[in-house]
Amino acid sequence: MEQFSSKDVTALILAAGKGTRMKSDRPKVLHKLLKKPMLWYLLQTLSRMDFLKTFVVTGHGHGLVEEAFPDENNDFILQDRQLGTGHALQIAWPIIEATQARWLVVANGDTPLVSQDNLRQLISEVSNVRADLGLLSLNLDNPDDYGRVVRDRLGHVRAVIESKDYDEQLHGPDSGEVNSGIYLFRVSSLARIIHELDDHNRQQEFYITQLISLASERNMRAISVSAGNCPELLGINNPRQLVEQEEYLRSMILDRLISQGVIIRNRDQVRIGPKTVVEPGADITGPCEIYGDSFVGKSTVVNSYCYIEDSSLNNCEIFSFSHVHRSDIKEGAKVGPFARLRPGTVIHEGAKAGNFVEIKNSSIGKYSKVSHLSYIGDTRMDSEVNIGAGTITCNYDGKNKHVTTIEKKVFVGSNTSLVAPVRIGERSMIGAGSTITLDVPQESLAIARARQKNLISKNPLKNN
Ligand code: UD1
Ligand code: CA
Repeated sequence: MEQFSSKDVTALILAAGKGTRMKSDRPKVLHKLLKKPMLWYLLQTLSRMDFLKTFVVTGHGHGLVEEAFPDENNDFILQDRQLGTGHALQIAWPIIEATQARWLVVANGDTPLVSQDNLRQLISEVSNVRADLGLLSLNLDNPDDYGRVVRDRLGHVRAVIESKDYDEQLHGPDSGEVNSGIYLFRVSSLARIIHELDDHNRQQEFYITQLISLASERNMRAISVSAGNCPELLGINNPRQLVEQEEYLRSMILDRLISQGVIIRNRDQVRIGPKTVVEPGADITGPCEIYGDSFVGKSTVVNSYCYIEDSSLNNCEIFSFSHVHRSDIKEGAKVGPFARLRPGTVIHEGAKAGNFVEIKNSSIGKYSKVSHLSYIGDTRMDSEVNIGAGTITCNYDGKNKHVTTIEKKVFVGSNTSLVAPVRIGERSMIGAGSTITLDVPQESLAIARARQKNLISKNPLKNN
């Protein structure tokens, strides 16, 4: 077996195609599975393989693709006109050669779920037999649009023929073994054939797959490494396949969490993103979605019909129909039912954001309660505050946003408007129905509403 170090490998992702079959203007690799773009998955997997370098060939909508990955230190290579997968490789070739890597992994950008195990299997079999190139193949009952792997009588791989070009007379009966679009090339061997690709085929494109027959004609060793019917290697060409792959991924994530000890009720309707961390013991009931960089602590309960994104749930309870985005909910806090927490919200220990409450960019102090029908925006609320039903912080004057400060143990009566900027001092009380426009000193009672008059003799209903 040949020595193999991951630092001898450069990886290339082919992501320039338009993805016509997706019927959408968005570049195909930006279509999402559980809220993360296809390309994100491949970049994650390749970065974990610790290769020397990873490049992405972009073309259709390349600006959008590059924008979507601003922090990744990946190098994008532009394929201005998309003349085929082989052409994409040719465009990248000078850059690949300059890395001086001995091996090149090529992955189609529309096969997002390829795993590290798949790649390791390919690498180990190619280096075991000292092949010049290898591809991962699948055995499918319905080979559909995939390129067919063609072997000779001795079982040696001779070609990959695209389904549109496949002719049983010429290529023999269809074996169901297809090309997954994941390849490993020995760079020195590839150098000898890469410039010989032509576009003499049904689609008049330069196919990367022609390299297999070119290699075989020059007595190079091309192998195919079968991954059986491994669902991870299925490509995504249309919306149906996108949803099927997402469904497969969803189920894998849930299997992992359940085996680690997370309680997942109504499993078929729970969707948890690939980056979300859920601790064993957490209790989640579907339908429910939890995405992004979310964290769900070990004694957190998430009830049905909740949507959580990029939020931290630290042993709290989220009641049904709540929507939580970029918020941090601390130990013992209660949220919902029907609460909406928008970015920048912190619900501190033991605090409550109840029914039909919207909170944005605000912190709700320990044991404070916003129980019903309120809007709290740009507010710093200290501990043990009670906010009456229907209270609104008027944080926006049409031009700017202003801060409301509510000190500890304040009691705000129902249906109060707090017109920001305003500060309510410690232990003060606001009379129900007030419109508060001035700061309230500590330990005082503020009432700002018209005094009620009872004019009995003028009761218009008197003669009815
Ligand atoms: C390709 C393979 C096929 C294989 C299948 C596996 C070829 C000719 N065929 O077919 O054998 O069974 O994948 O899923 O390679 N791309 C570019 N530049 C281009 C054209 C395509 O970067 O000019 C990218 C696409 O964005 C895509 C990938 O290459 O991510 C594959 O292209 P696609 O058109 O989807 O190839 P398939 O027809 O699926
Ligand atoms: Ca494809």
